[in-house]
Amino acid sequence: MTDKDRVIDDVKQSIKTQFENDSSGHDWFHIERVWKLAKQIALKEKANVFIVELGALLHDIADHKFVDDFETESIKRTESILKSFDLDNDTIKQVKHIVLNCSFKGGIEESKMKSIEGKIVQDADKLDAIGAIGIARTFAFGGKFGSLLYHPNIKPIQHKSLESYQKNRTHTINHFYEKLLLLKDLMHTQSAKQIALQRHQFMEDFLTQFFNEWNGVLE
Ligand code: ADP
Ligand code: NI
Repeated sequence: MTDKDRVIDDVKQSIKTQFENDSSGHDWFHIERVWKLAKQIALKEKANVFIVELGALLHDIADHKFVDDFETESIKRTESILKSFDLDNDTIKQVKHIVLNCSFKGGIEESKMKSIEGKIVQDADKLDAIGAIGIARTFAFGGKFGSLLYHPNIKPIQHKSLESYQKNRTHTINHFYEKLLLLKDLMHTQSAKQIALQRHQFMEDFLTQFFNEWNGVLE
């Protein structure tokens, strides 16, 4: 095991303990999937795999929906985990940049992610929000917050502000039109764009089937 492997293993353990019982959509298994996918994309895109792995493991350390001061909390928690390792300042700076800029936040603000490593983590995070897993996570989230599956009279809206996105939680099907179906066009890397196409199609097929069943279309 190299020194870097040991750091990854320790950070992984620490995050795993912290997120094991989370049911808000950011549970440990989400983080594990993002970590594994980001690592594969990093190898394909020839990016710095160590930075990508750290960024992926730490990317949900604070959630803008549940903390008052997202930036302060993110920095504080990232530093507290990384300080026990002998890492150079540039590595820590790069990981903080990823943690601070990863969130999609409704896609209203343009992504401020500058590094290829950060873009890869963001892509892997978005890929986990679409496809079969994306559908499952979205209904799990809706269940936790008591949303209806669907209401035909409540149409999706294109949010103009983060506040509107956070406040206007309607039924879960709207979340597909307000966020999930937009994600494939927001991928940064070629590798992610390719994976996104298939996962996007799967959601389109799911919605077609959902509305057929809703409307009693037999076929
Ligand atoms: P990010 O961390 O990129 O800002 P979120 O934390 O908003 O993304 O969302 C994480 C996951 O939680 C989404 O992929 C989705 O499955 C679920 N989710 C978030 N907001 C909603 C919502 N309003 N309705 C249904 N699911 C949601
Ligand atoms: Ni995430």
